[in-house]
Amino acid sequence: MTAPVPAPLPTRDLHPASAADAPWWRDAVIYQIYPRSWADGDGDGVGDLPGTTARLEYLRDLGVDAVWLSPFYRSPHNDGGYDVSDHRDVDPLFGSIADADALITRAHELGLRVVVDLVPNHTSWEHEWFRAALAAAPGSPERDRYMFRDGLGEDGELPPTDWLSNFGGGAWTRVTEPDGTPGQWYLHLFDPSQPDLNWQNPQVRADFEGILRFWLDRGVDGFRVDVAHGLVKKEGLPNYDKHPGGLLEVTHEAPYWDQDGVHEIYRAWRELLDSYGVPERIMCAEAWVAPADRLARYVRPDEFHQAFNFDFLETPWLAEPLRDVIAKSLAASDSVGAPATWVLSNHDVLRHATRFALPQDAARPNGIGAQDPQPDAELGLRRARAATALMLALPGGAYVYQGEELGLPEHTSLPDAVRQDPTFMRTGGLERGRDGCRVPMPWTKGARALGFNTTGAAWLPQPQSYADLAVDVQTGVERSTLEMYRSLIALRKERALGRGALAEVEGLGADVLGYLVTAPDGERTLVIANLSTTPVELPEGATAIAASGILDGRQVPTDTTVWATLG
Ligand code: NOJ
Repeated sequence: MTAPVPAPLPTRDLHPASAADAPWWRDAVIYQIYPRSWADGDGDGVGDLPGTTARLEYLRDLGVDAVWLSPFYRSPHNDGGYDVSDHRDVDPLFGSIADADALITRAHELGLRVVVDLVPNHTSWEHEWFRAALAAAPGSPERDRYMFRDGLGEDGELPPTDWLSNFGGGAWTRVTEPDGTPGQWYLHLFDPSQPDLNWQNPQVRADFEGILRFWLDRGVDGFRVDVAHGLVKKEGLPNYDKHPGGLLEVTHEAPYWDQDGVHEIYRAWRELLDSYGVPERIMCAEAWVAPADRLARYVRPDEFHQAFNFDFLETPWLAEPLRDVIAKSLAASDSVGAPATWVLSNHDVLRHATRFALPQDAARPNGIGAQDPQPDAELGLRRARAATALMLALPGGAYVYQGEELGLPEHTSLPDAVRQDPTFMRTGGLERGRDGCRVPMPWTKGARALGFNTTGAAWLPQPQSYADLAVDVQTGVERSTLEMYRSLIALRKERALGRGALAEVEGLGADVLGYLVTAPDGERTLVIANLSTTPVELPEGATAIAASGILDGRQVPTDTTVWATLG
Protein backbone atom coordinates (compact mmCIF):
# COMPACT_ATOMS: atom_id res chain seq x y z
CA MET A 1 0.00 0.00 0.00
CA THR A 2 1.29 3.49 -0.88
CA ALA A 3 1.15 6.31 1.66
CA PRO A 4 -1.20 9.20 0.80
CA VAL A 5 0.38 12.07 -1.09
CA PRO A 6 0.30 15.26 0.99
CA ALA A 7 -1.56 18.32 -0.37
CA PRO A 8 -0.76 20.42 -2.34
CA LEU A 9 -0.13 17.85 -5.03
CA PRO A 10 3.11 18.15 -7.00
CA THR A 11 2.11 18.60 -10.62
CA ARG A 12 3.60 19.12 -14.08
CA ASP A 13 1.54 21.10 -16.61
CA LEU A 14 0.77 19.22 -19.81
CA HIS A 15 -1.98 21.12 -21.56
CA PRO A 16 -3.81 24.47 -21.28
CA ALA A 17 -7.61 24.72 -21.01
CA SER A 18 -9.65 25.52 -24.10
CA ALA A 19 -12.15 28.36 -24.18
CA ALA A 20 -15.38 27.68 -22.29
CA ASP A 21 -17.30 28.43 -25.51
CA ALA A 22 -15.07 26.39 -27.87
CA PRO A 23 -16.90 24.71 -30.79
CA TRP A 24 -18.79 21.48 -30.13
CA TRP A 25 -16.34 19.06 -31.68
CA ARG A 26 -13.38 20.02 -29.50
CA ASP A 27 -14.63 17.91 -26.59
CA ALA A 28 -17.40 15.83 -28.16
CA VAL A 29 -18.03 12.20 -27.25
CA ILE A 30 -18.87 10.47 -30.52
CA TYR A 31 -20.41 6.99 -30.66
CA GLN A 32 -19.47 4.73 -33.55
CA ILE A 33 -22.22 2.63 -35.07
CA TYR A 34 -21.24 -0.25 -37.32
CA PRO A 35 -24.63 -0.35 -39.07
CA ARG A 36 -24.51 -4.08 -39.92
CA SER A 37 -24.39 -4.94 -36.26
CA TRP A 38 -26.25 -2.35 -34.24
CA ALA A 39 -29.99 -2.79 -34.80
CA ASP A 40 -31.79 -4.80 -37.45
CA GLY A 41 -35.19 -3.33 -38.33
CA ASP A 42 -36.25 -5.77 -41.06
CA GLY A 43 -35.04 -8.96 -39.41
CA ASP A 44 -32.79 -10.20 -42.22
CA GLY A 45 -29.85 -10.61 -39.86
CA VAL A 46 -28.04 -7.46 -40.98
CA GLY A 47 -28.48 -4.18 -39.12
CA ASP A 48 -30.00 -1.30 -41.07
CA LEU A 49 -30.88 2.39 -40.97
CA PRO A 50 -34.53 2.07 -39.87
CA GLY A 51 -33.39 -0.23 -37.05
CA THR A 52 -30.76 2.30 -36.09
CA THR A 53 -33.17 5.24 -36.13
CA ALA A 54 -35.57 3.37 -33.88
CA ARG A 55 -32.84 2.95 -31.26
CA LEU A 56 -31.35 6.44 -31.27
CA GLU A 57 -32.95 7.39 -27.96
CA TYR A 58 -30.56 4.96 -26.33
CA LEU A 59 -27.72 7.23 -27.43
CA ARG A 60 -29.42 10.35 -26.18
CA ASP A 61 -29.73 8.60 -22.80
CA LEU A 62 -26.10 7.55 -22.93
CA GLY A 63 -25.28 11.24 -23.21
CA VAL A 64 -23.07 11.24 -26.31
CA ASP A 65 -22.92 14.27 -28.58
CA ALA A 66 -22.83 12.60 -31.98
CA VAL A 67 -22.88 9.34 -33.88
CA TRP A 68 -20.46 8.24 -36.54
CA LEU A 69 -21.90 5.64 -38.89
CA SER A 70 -19.56 3.29 -40.72
CA PRO A 71 -20.45 3.07 -44.45
CA PHE A 72 -24.04 2.32 -45.43
CA TYR A 73 -23.58 3.13 -49.13
CA ARG A 74 -24.16 0.85 -52.07
CA SER A 75 -21.55 -1.85 -51.98
CA PRO A 76 -20.96 -5.51 -52.79
CA HIS A 77 -19.65 -5.78 -49.20
CA ASN A 78 -16.35 -7.43 -49.84
CA ASP A 79 -14.95 -5.31 -47.00
CA GLY A 80 -17.95 -4.54 -44.81
CA GLY A 81 -19.03 -1.62 -47.01
CA TYR A 82 -15.59 0.02 -47.21
CA ASP A 83 -15.85 -0.95 -50.87
CA VAL A 84 -18.32 1.66 -52.11
CA SER A 85 -20.00 1.25 -55.49
CA ASP A 86 -22.19 4.38 -55.24
CA HIS A 87 -21.31 7.12 -52.77
CA ARG A 88 -24.64 8.84 -53.23
CA ASP A 89 -26.98 5.98 -52.47
CA VAL A 90 -27.82 3.72 -49.55
CA ASP A 91 -27.30 -0.01 -50.03
CA PRO A 92 -30.67 -1.80 -50.11
CA LEU A 93 -29.33 -4.01 -47.32
CA PHE A 94 -29.41 -0.94 -45.06
CA GLY A 95 -32.48 0.84 -46.47
CA SER A 96 -32.95 3.79 -48.77
CA ILE A 97 -31.85 7.37 -49.09
CA ALA A 98 -35.18 8.32 -47.44
CA ASP A 99 -34.13 6.17 -44.48
CA ALA A 100 -30.84 8.07 -44.27
CA ASP A 101 -32.76 11.36 -44.28
CA ALA A 102 -35.07 10.06 -41.56
CA LEU A 103 -32.10 8.98 -39.45
CA ILE A 104 -30.46 12.40 -39.74
CA THR A 105 -33.72 14.18 -38.88
CA ARG A 106 -34.42 11.98 -35.86
CA ALA A 107 -30.85 12.29 -34.58
CA HIS A 108 -31.06 16.06 -34.80
CA GLU A 109 -34.41 16.05 -32.97
CA LEU A 110 -32.69 14.16 -30.17
CA GLY A 111 -29.78 16.61 -30.07
CA LEU A 112 -27.32 14.18 -31.68
CA ARG A 113 -25.06 15.19 -34.54
CA VAL A 114 -24.37 12.79 -37.39
CA VAL A 115 -20.96 11.99 -38.83
CA VAL A 116 -20.80 9.71 -41.88
CA ASP A 117 -17.92 7.76 -43.36
CA LEU A 118 -16.13 8.93 -46.47
CA VAL A 119 -14.00 6.38 -48.30
CA PRO A 120 -11.79 8.30 -50.75
CA ASN A 121 -8.72 6.07 -51.14
CA HIS A 122 -10.48 3.44 -53.20
CA THR A 123 -13.87 2.45 -54.58
CA SER A 124 -15.45 -0.93 -55.09
CA TRP A 125 -14.56 -2.69 -58.32
CA GLU A 126 -18.29 -2.55 -58.97
CA HIS A 127 -18.27 1.26 -59.08
CA GLU A 128 -19.27 2.59 -62.49
CA TRP A 129 -15.94 4.47 -62.66
CA PHE A 130 -14.01 1.22 -62.38
CA ARG A 131 -16.25 -0.64 -64.79
CA ALA A 132 -15.68 2.15 -67.30
CA ALA A 133 -11.93 1.98 -66.63
CA LEU A 134 -11.88 -1.75 -67.34
CA ALA A 135 -13.85 -1.28 -70.55
CA ALA A 136 -11.57 1.53 -71.78
CA ALA A 137 -8.10 1.32 -73.27
CA PRO A 138 -4.80 1.80 -71.43
CA GLY A 139 -3.97 5.51 -71.32
CA SER A 140 -7.65 6.55 -71.48
CA PRO A 141 -9.19 9.16 -69.15
CA GLU A 142 -11.32 6.36 -67.63
CA ARG A 143 -8.20 4.39 -66.63
CA ASP A 144 -6.60 7.55 -65.29
CA ARG A 145 -9.15 7.71 -62.47
CA TYR A 146 -7.38 4.70 -60.95
CA MET A 147 -3.78 3.53 -60.57
CA PHE A 148 -3.30 1.42 -63.69
CA ARG A 149 0.26 0.58 -64.77
CA ASP A 150 1.92 -1.74 -67.27
CA GLY A 151 3.53 -4.80 -65.69
CA LEU A 152 7.24 -5.54 -65.65
CA GLY A 153 8.95 -8.52 -67.30
CA GLU A 154 8.95 -9.51 -70.93
CA ASP A 155 5.18 -9.71 -71.28
CA GLY A 156 4.20 -7.44 -68.44
CA GLU A 157 3.60 -10.53 -66.33
CA LEU A 158 5.18 -9.06 -63.19
CA PRO A 159 3.50 -6.48 -60.94
CA PRO A 160 4.70 -2.87 -61.41
CA THR A 161 6.08 -2.63 -57.84
CA ASP A 162 6.72 -4.90 -54.88
CA TRP A 163 4.00 -3.32 -52.74
CA LEU A 164 1.89 -5.56 -50.54
CA SER A 165 -1.81 -5.33 -49.71
CA ASN A 166 -2.85 -4.54 -46.15
CA PHE A 167 -5.05 -7.58 -46.23
CA GLY A 168 -2.25 -9.93 -47.33
CA GLY A 169 -0.81 -10.81 -50.75
CA GLY A 170 0.32 -8.40 -53.45
CA ALA A 171 -1.13 -4.91 -53.93
CA TRP A 172 -1.53 -5.23 -57.72
CA THR A 173 -3.96 -7.27 -59.80
CA ARG A 174 -3.66 -7.84 -63.53
CA VAL A 175 -6.70 -7.25 -65.70
CA THR A 176 -7.83 -8.91 -68.87
CA GLU A 177 -8.21 -6.29 -71.55
CA PRO A 178 -11.53 -5.97 -73.43
CA ASP A 179 -9.96 -7.91 -76.35
CA GLY A 180 -9.24 -10.87 -74.06
CA THR A 181 -5.47 -10.43 -73.74
CA PRO A 182 -3.68 -10.18 -70.38
CA GLY A 183 -3.27 -6.49 -69.74
CA GLN A 184 -2.36 -3.78 -67.25
CA TRP A 185 -2.25 -4.01 -63.49
CA TYR A 186 -4.21 -1.90 -61.02
CA LEU A 187 -3.23 -0.97 -57.48
CA HIS A 188 -5.23 -1.96 -54.41
CA LEU A 189 -3.70 -1.25 -51.03
CA PHE A 190 -6.53 -3.33 -49.61
CA ASP A 191 -8.61 -6.08 -51.26
CA PRO A 192 -8.50 -6.55 -55.07
CA SER A 193 -12.17 -5.52 -54.97
CA GLN A 194 -11.02 -2.09 -53.71
CA PRO A 195 -9.03 -0.41 -56.53
CA ASP A 196 -7.12 2.72 -55.43
CA LEU A 197 -8.18 6.01 -56.98
CA ASN A 198 -5.68 8.34 -58.63
CA TRP A 199 -5.74 11.54 -56.59
CA GLN A 200 -3.51 13.33 -59.09
CA ASN A 201 -6.51 13.34 -61.41
CA PRO A 202 -8.52 16.61 -61.01
CA GLN A 203 -11.71 14.77 -61.93
CA VAL A 204 -11.35 12.54 -58.86
CA ARG A 205 -10.95 15.63 -56.68
CA ALA A 206 -13.99 17.30 -58.22
CA ASP A 207 -16.10 14.14 -57.80
CA PHE A 208 -15.31 13.89 -54.12
CA GLU A 209 -16.12 17.52 -53.50
CA GLY A 210 -19.49 16.74 -55.08
CA ILE A 211 -19.93 13.77 -52.73
CA LEU A 212 -19.11 15.92 -49.69
CA ARG A 213 -21.70 18.47 -50.78
CA PHE A 214 -24.28 15.76 -51.43
CA TRP A 215 -24.16 14.60 -47.80
CA LEU A 216 -23.72 18.07 -46.30
CA ASP A 217 -26.83 19.19 -48.17
CA ARG A 218 -28.70 16.28 -46.60
CA GLY A 219 -27.75 17.65 -43.19
CA VAL A 220 -24.80 15.60 -41.97
CA ASP A 221 -22.51 17.26 -39.45
CA GLY A 222 -19.25 15.74 -40.58
CA PHE A 223 -17.16 12.96 -42.06
CA ARG A 224 -14.82 10.34 -40.74
CA VAL A 225 -12.30 10.00 -43.53
CA ASP A 226 -11.11 6.47 -44.26
CA VAL A 227 -7.38 5.85 -44.90
CA ALA A 228 -6.72 9.61 -44.84
CA HIS A 229 -2.98 8.91 -44.97
CA GLY A 230 -3.11 6.86 -48.16
CA LEU A 231 -4.58 8.95 -50.97
CA VAL A 232 -1.35 10.21 -52.53
CA LYS A 233 1.38 7.83 -53.63
CA LYS A 234 5.02 8.79 -54.07
CA GLU A 235 5.96 10.11 -57.50
CA GLY A 236 7.25 7.33 -59.76
CA LEU A 237 5.86 4.58 -57.48
CA PRO A 238 9.22 3.32 -56.20
CA ASN A 239 9.59 -0.16 -54.75
CA TYR A 240 9.38 -0.50 -50.99
CA ASP A 241 11.35 -3.45 -49.78
CA LYS A 242 10.48 -3.16 -46.10
CA HIS A 243 6.84 -4.13 -46.34
CA PRO A 244 5.59 -3.12 -42.96
CA GLY A 245 2.09 -4.31 -43.91
CA GLY A 246 -0.95 -4.27 -41.64
CA LEU A 247 -3.16 -1.34 -40.80
CA LEU A 248 -1.25 -0.66 -37.64
CA GLU A 249 2.25 -0.32 -38.98
CA VAL A 250 2.62 2.77 -41.06
CA THR A 251 5.43 5.12 -41.76
CA HIS A 252 5.82 7.89 -44.28
CA GLU A 253 8.90 6.09 -45.57
CA ALA A 254 6.47 3.77 -47.31
CA PRO A 255 5.76 5.28 -50.74
CA TYR A 256 2.02 4.95 -50.22
CA TRP A 257 1.52 6.27 -46.67
CA ASP A 258 1.47 9.77 -45.24
CA GLN A 259 2.87 11.51 -48.31
CA ASP A 260 2.97 15.29 -48.08
CA GLY A 261 0.66 15.66 -51.07
CA VAL A 262 -2.40 14.55 -49.07
CA HIS A 263 -2.58 17.80 -47.15
CA GLU A 264 -3.67 20.04 -50.00
CA ILE A 265 -6.68 17.78 -50.53
CA TYR A 266 -7.77 18.31 -46.94
CA ARG A 267 -7.23 22.06 -47.11
CA ALA A 268 -9.66 22.20 -50.01
CA TRP A 269 -12.19 20.09 -48.09
CA ARG A 270 -11.86 22.25 -44.99
CA GLU A 271 -12.73 25.32 -47.04
CA LEU A 272 -15.74 23.51 -48.39
CA LEU A 273 -16.90 22.45 -44.91
CA ASP A 274 -16.33 25.93 -43.50
CA SER A 275 -18.50 27.39 -46.25
CA TYR A 276 -21.46 25.66 -44.52
CA GLY A 277 -21.02 27.99 -41.51
CA VAL A 278 -21.96 27.21 -37.90
CA PRO A 279 -22.46 24.85 -36.21
CA GLU A 280 -19.22 23.67 -37.74
CA ARG A 281 -19.23 20.63 -40.00
CA ILE A 282 -16.23 18.50 -39.16
CA MET A 283 -13.89 15.88 -40.52
CA CYS A 284 -11.93 13.32 -38.54
CA ALA A 285 -8.90 11.60 -40.04
CA GLU A 286 -8.45 7.88 -39.90
CA ALA A 287 -4.71 8.22 -40.35
CA TRP A 288 -2.49 5.46 -39.00
CA VAL A 289 0.48 7.76 -38.81
CA ALA A 290 3.42 7.88 -36.45
CA PRO A 291 5.01 9.61 -34.64
CA ALA A 292 2.56 12.05 -33.06
CA ASP A 293 4.01 15.11 -34.78
CA ARG A 294 3.32 13.56 -38.20
CA LEU A 295 -0.31 13.10 -37.11
CA ALA A 296 -0.44 16.69 -35.88
CA ARG A 297 0.10 17.84 -39.47
CA TYR A 298 -3.38 16.49 -40.29
CA VAL A 299 -5.03 18.70 -37.68
CA ARG A 300 -3.42 22.00 -38.55
CA PRO A 301 -6.00 24.81 -38.34
CA ASP A 302 -6.91 24.61 -42.05
CA GLU A 303 -7.13 20.79 -42.29
CA PHE A 304 -8.93 18.14 -40.22
CA HIS A 305 -10.75 19.05 -37.02
CA GLN A 306 -9.86 15.73 -35.44
CA ALA A 307 -7.56 12.75 -36.04
CA PHE A 308 -7.92 9.50 -34.13
CA ASN A 309 -5.12 9.05 -31.64
CA PHE A 310 -4.19 5.48 -32.59
CA ASP A 311 -0.94 5.74 -30.62
CA PHE A 312 -3.15 5.80 -27.53
CA LEU A 313 -5.29 2.93 -28.79
CA GLU A 314 -2.19 0.84 -29.41
CA THR A 315 -0.63 1.50 -26.02
CA PRO A 316 -0.71 -1.48 -23.64
CA TRP A 317 -2.21 -1.29 -20.17
CA LEU A 318 1.11 -0.28 -18.63
CA ALA A 319 1.66 2.95 -16.71
CA GLU A 320 4.89 4.18 -18.25
CA PRO A 321 3.88 3.92 -21.93
CA LEU A 322 0.44 5.37 -21.13
CA ARG A 323 1.91 8.32 -19.26
CA ASP A 324 4.26 8.90 -22.15
CA VAL A 325 1.65 8.66 -24.92
CA ILE A 326 -0.76 10.99 -23.10
CA ALA A 327 1.92 13.66 -22.63
CA LYS A 328 3.28 13.32 -26.16
CA SER A 329 -0.08 13.35 -27.89
CA LEU A 330 -1.19 16.45 -26.02
CA ALA A 331 2.07 18.21 -26.82
CA ALA A 332 1.77 17.31 -30.51
CA SER A 333 -1.86 18.39 -30.89
CA ASP A 334 -1.26 21.54 -28.82
CA SER A 335 1.59 22.47 -31.16
CA VAL A 336 -1.02 23.07 -33.87
CA GLY A 337 -3.88 24.20 -31.61
CA ALA A 338 -5.95 21.04 -32.16
CA PRO A 339 -7.72 18.89 -29.57
CA ALA A 340 -6.52 15.33 -29.01
CA THR A 341 -9.01 12.65 -30.09
CA TRP A 342 -8.98 9.62 -27.79
CA VAL A 343 -10.18 6.19 -28.83
CA LEU A 344 -9.83 2.70 -27.39
CA SER A 345 -11.86 0.50 -29.73
CA ASN A 346 -13.31 0.45 -33.22
CA HIS A 347 -14.39 -2.04 -35.88
CA ASP A 348 -10.77 -2.78 -36.91
CA VAL A 349 -9.11 -3.78 -33.66
CA LEU A 350 -9.60 -6.24 -30.81
CA ARG A 351 -12.14 -4.78 -28.40
CA HIS A 352 -10.30 -3.24 -25.47
CA ALA A 353 -12.08 -5.47 -22.95
CA THR A 354 -10.21 -8.35 -24.61
CA ARG A 355 -7.05 -6.55 -25.63
CA PHE A 356 -6.19 -5.64 -22.06
CA ALA A 357 -6.53 -9.25 -20.95
CA LEU A 358 -3.69 -10.38 -23.23
CA PRO A 359 -0.02 -10.27 -22.23
CA GLN A 360 0.66 -6.53 -22.35
CA ASP A 361 4.28 -6.75 -23.40
CA ALA A 362 3.70 -8.81 -26.55
CA ALA A 363 2.52 -7.92 -30.07
CA ARG A 364 -1.26 -8.03 -30.46
CA PRO A 365 -2.97 -10.48 -32.75
CA ASN A 366 -5.37 -9.36 -35.47
CA GLY A 367 -8.35 -11.31 -34.15
CA ILE A 368 -8.55 -14.38 -31.92
CA GLY A 369 -9.91 -17.79 -32.91
CA ALA A 370 -11.36 -20.78 -31.06
CA GLN A 371 -7.98 -22.55 -31.46
CA ASP A 372 -6.12 -19.71 -29.73
CA PRO A 373 -5.62 -19.33 -25.95
CA GLN A 374 -8.74 -17.66 -24.55
CA PRO A 375 -8.32 -14.39 -22.62
CA ASP A 376 -9.40 -13.81 -19.01
CA ALA A 377 -12.68 -11.90 -19.46
CA GLU A 378 -12.84 -10.60 -15.89
CA LEU A 379 -9.34 -9.12 -15.97
CA GLY A 380 -9.99 -7.59 -19.39
CA LEU A 381 -13.24 -5.97 -18.28
CA ARG A 382 -11.73 -4.53 -15.11
CA ARG A 383 -8.92 -2.95 -17.08
CA ALA A 384 -11.21 -1.82 -19.89
CA ARG A 385 -13.43 0.04 -17.42
CA ALA A 386 -10.38 1.66 -15.85
CA ALA A 387 -9.00 2.62 -19.27
CA THR A 388 -12.33 4.16 -20.28
CA ALA A 389 -12.53 6.16 -17.06
CA LEU A 390 -9.04 7.43 -17.79
CA MET A 391 -9.87 8.27 -21.42
CA LEU A 392 -13.10 10.12 -20.62
CA ALA A 393 -11.25 12.39 -18.20
CA LEU A 394 -8.71 13.55 -20.75
CA PRO A 395 -9.06 16.88 -22.57
CA GLY A 396 -10.21 16.73 -26.19
CA GLY A 397 -12.72 14.54 -27.99
CA ALA A 398 -13.40 10.84 -27.46
CA TYR A 399 -14.89 8.09 -29.60
CA VAL A 400 -16.81 5.15 -28.15
CA TYR A 401 -17.33 2.03 -30.26
CA GLN A 402 -20.75 0.36 -30.11
CA GLY A 403 -20.95 -2.20 -27.34
CA GLU A 404 -17.92 -1.03 -25.39
CA GLU A 405 -20.39 0.75 -23.11
CA LEU A 406 -21.66 -2.74 -22.23
CA GLY A 407 -18.14 -4.02 -21.62
CA LEU A 408 -18.46 -6.39 -24.57
CA PRO A 409 -15.44 -8.58 -25.15
CA GLU A 410 -14.29 -9.66 -28.59
CA HIS A 411 -15.98 -12.81 -29.88
CA THR A 412 -12.90 -15.00 -29.54
CA SER A 413 -14.33 -18.32 -30.70
CA LEU A 414 -16.09 -17.57 -33.97
CA PRO A 415 -16.12 -20.61 -36.22
CA ASP A 416 -13.80 -19.99 -39.18
CA ALA A 417 -16.63 -20.91 -41.54
CA VAL A 418 -18.58 -17.75 -40.66
CA ARG A 419 -15.68 -15.32 -40.91
CA GLN A 420 -16.08 -12.60 -43.52
CA ASP A 421 -13.08 -10.31 -43.12
CA PRO A 422 -10.99 -10.46 -46.31
CA THR A 423 -7.88 -10.49 -44.11
CA PHE A 424 -8.79 -13.99 -42.97
CA MET A 425 -9.05 -15.32 -46.54
CA ARG A 426 -6.05 -13.42 -47.90
CA THR A 427 -3.71 -14.63 -45.17
CA GLY A 428 -4.97 -18.20 -45.38
CA GLY A 429 -6.39 -17.87 -41.88
CA LEU A 430 -3.05 -16.85 -40.38
CA GLU A 431 -4.68 -13.65 -39.25
CA ARG A 432 -8.14 -14.32 -37.82
CA GLY A 433 -9.25 -10.84 -38.81
CA ARG A 434 -11.72 -8.33 -37.48
CA ASP A 435 -15.03 -10.19 -37.39
CA GLY A 436 -14.80 -10.76 -33.64
CA CYS A 437 -15.32 -7.07 -32.86
CA ARG A 438 -18.21 -6.73 -35.33
CA VAL A 439 -20.72 -9.12 -33.79
CA PRO A 440 -24.34 -7.84 -33.43
CA MET A 441 -25.26 -5.88 -30.27
CA PRO A 442 -27.09 -7.60 -27.40
CA TRP A 443 -30.11 -5.48 -26.45
CA THR A 444 -32.37 -7.87 -24.57
CA LYS A 445 -31.43 -11.00 -22.66
CA GLY A 446 -33.57 -13.96 -23.60
CA ALA A 447 -34.88 -12.39 -26.82
CA ARG A 448 -34.10 -13.74 -30.27
CA ALA A 449 -30.65 -12.64 -31.43
CA LEU A 450 -30.58 -10.87 -28.04
CA GLY A 451 -32.95 -8.22 -29.37
CA PHE A 452 -30.80 -7.31 -32.37
CA ASN A 453 -33.99 -8.08 -34.32
CA THR A 454 -37.14 -10.10 -33.81
CA THR A 455 -36.35 -13.01 -36.12
CA GLY A 456 -33.18 -14.35 -34.53
CA ALA A 457 -31.15 -14.06 -37.73
CA ALA A 458 -27.64 -12.66 -37.32
CA TRP A 459 -24.91 -12.25 -39.93
CA LEU A 460 -22.40 -13.28 -37.28
CA PRO A 461 -23.38 -15.40 -34.27
CA GLN A 462 -23.27 -13.74 -30.85
CA PRO A 463 -21.24 -15.47 -28.12
CA GLN A 464 -23.08 -16.81 -25.09
CA SER A 465 -21.38 -14.30 -22.83
CA TYR A 466 -23.27 -11.43 -24.51
CA ALA A 467 -26.61 -12.41 -22.92
CA ASP A 468 -25.64 -11.24 -19.44
CA LEU A 469 -24.18 -8.06 -20.88
CA ALA A 470 -27.33 -7.05 -22.78
CA VAL A 471 -28.60 -3.50 -22.48
CA ASP A 472 -31.71 -4.50 -20.49
CA VAL A 473 -29.63 -6.44 -17.99
CA GLN A 474 -27.42 -3.43 -17.28
CA THR A 475 -29.91 -0.57 -17.44
CA GLY A 476 -30.50 0.98 -14.02
CA VAL A 477 -28.07 -1.42 -12.36
CA GLU A 478 -25.64 0.42 -10.18
CA ARG A 479 -22.01 -0.14 -11.21
CA SER A 480 -22.91 -1.92 -14.45
CA THR A 481 -20.60 -0.92 -17.26
CA LEU A 482 -23.47 0.80 -19.07
CA GLU A 483 -24.34 2.91 -16.02
CA MET A 484 -20.65 3.67 -15.51
CA TYR A 485 -20.43 5.06 -19.05
CA ARG A 486 -23.61 7.09 -18.53
CA SER A 487 -22.43 8.65 -15.33
CA LEU A 488 -18.87 9.29 -16.56
CA ILE A 489 -20.13 10.98 -19.73
CA ALA A 490 -22.55 13.12 -17.69
CA LEU A 491 -19.89 14.06 -15.11
CA ARG A 492 -17.36 14.79 -17.85
CA LYS A 493 -19.80 17.27 -19.33
CA GLU A 494 -20.81 18.77 -15.99
CA ARG A 495 -17.19 19.33 -14.97
CA ALA A 496 -16.06 20.36 -18.49
CA LEU A 497 -13.25 17.82 -18.40
CA GLY A 498 -12.94 17.81 -22.20
CA ARG A 499 -12.16 21.52 -22.11
CA GLY A 500 -9.94 21.43 -19.06
CA ALA A 501 -6.26 22.12 -18.52
CA LEU A 502 -4.33 18.96 -17.69
CA ALA A 503 -1.45 18.54 -15.28
CA GLU A 504 0.28 15.29 -14.38
CA VAL A 505 0.33 14.53 -10.66
CA GLU A 506 3.76 13.38 -9.64
CA GLY A 507 4.92 11.23 -6.76
CA LEU A 508 2.13 8.65 -6.81
CA GLY A 509 4.47 5.82 -7.81
CA ALA A 510 5.79 4.54 -11.15
CA ASP A 511 2.71 2.43 -11.88
CA VAL A 512 0.09 4.92 -10.82
CA LEU A 513 -1.16 7.58 -13.21
CA GLY A 514 -2.41 10.82 -11.72
CA TYR A 515 -3.90 13.83 -13.49
CA LEU A 516 -5.41 17.07 -12.35
CA VAL A 517 -7.99 18.52 -14.70
CA THR A 518 -8.84 22.19 -14.21
CA ALA A 519 -11.98 23.27 -16.04
CA PRO A 520 -12.17 26.71 -17.70
CA ASP A 521 -14.13 27.92 -14.63
CA GLY A 522 -11.37 26.71 -12.29
CA GLU A 523 -13.14 23.59 -10.94
CA ARG A 524 -10.60 20.83 -10.31
CA THR A 525 -10.97 17.07 -10.79
CA LEU A 526 -8.33 14.61 -9.71
CA VAL A 527 -7.98 11.42 -11.75
CA ILE A 528 -6.01 8.44 -10.52
CA ALA A 529 -5.51 5.21 -12.45
CA ASN A 530 -3.86 2.48 -10.45
CA LEU A 531 -1.95 0.08 -12.70
CA SER A 532 0.25 -1.21 -9.90
CA THR A 533 -0.27 -4.53 -8.15
CA THR A 534 -1.14 -2.97 -4.79
CA PRO A 535 -3.87 -0.56 -3.69
CA VAL A 536 -3.06 3.14 -3.60
CA GLU A 537 -4.55 5.63 -1.16
CA LEU A 538 -6.43 8.71 -2.33
CA PRO A 539 -4.46 11.88 -1.60
CA GLU A 540 -5.50 14.01 1.37
CA GLY A 541 -8.46 16.25 0.67
CA ALA A 542 -9.66 14.13 -2.27
CA THR A 543 -13.24 12.82 -2.32
CA ALA A 544 -14.16 10.17 -4.88
CA ILE A 545 -17.06 11.06 -7.19
CA ALA A 546 -16.78 8.20 -9.70
CA ALA A 547 -14.76 5.04 -10.05
CA SER A 548 -14.36 2.17 -12.48
CA GLY A 549 -14.30 -0.35 -9.62
CA ILE A 550 -15.16 -0.60 -5.94
CA LEU A 551 -12.98 1.43 -3.60
CA ASP A 552 -12.06 0.01 -0.24
CA GLY A 553 -12.51 3.11 1.90
CA ARG A 554 -9.86 5.48 0.50
CA GLN A 555 -7.94 2.68 -1.18
CA VAL A 556 -7.99 2.49 -4.98
CA PRO A 557 -7.50 -1.14 -5.97
CA THR A 558 -5.35 -2.46 -8.81
CA ASP A 559 -6.64 -1.77 -12.35
CA THR A 560 -9.05 0.88 -11.16
CA THR A 561 -9.51 4.54 -12.09
CA VAL A 562 -11.11 7.05 -9.78
CA TRP A 563 -12.28 10.63 -10.27
CA ALA A 564 -12.25 12.85 -7.20
CA THR A 565 -12.92 16.39 -6.11
CA LEU A 566 -10.30 18.22 -4.10
CA GLY A 567 -11.34 19.93 -0.88
C1 NOJ B 1 -10.09 1.43 -42.62
C2 NOJ B 1 -11.44 0.90 -42.24
O1 NOJ B 1 -11.72 1.26 -40.92
C3 NOJ B 1 -11.36 -0.59 -42.45
O2 NOJ B 1 -12.46 -1.26 -41.90
C4 NOJ B 1 -11.22 -0.86 -43.92
O3 NOJ B 1 -11.03 -2.24 -44.13
C5 NOJ B 1 -10.02 -0.12 -44.50
N1 NOJ B 1 -9.91 1.22 -44.01
C6 NOJ B 1 -10.12 -0.05 -46.00
O4 NOJ B 1 -11.14 0.81 -46.36
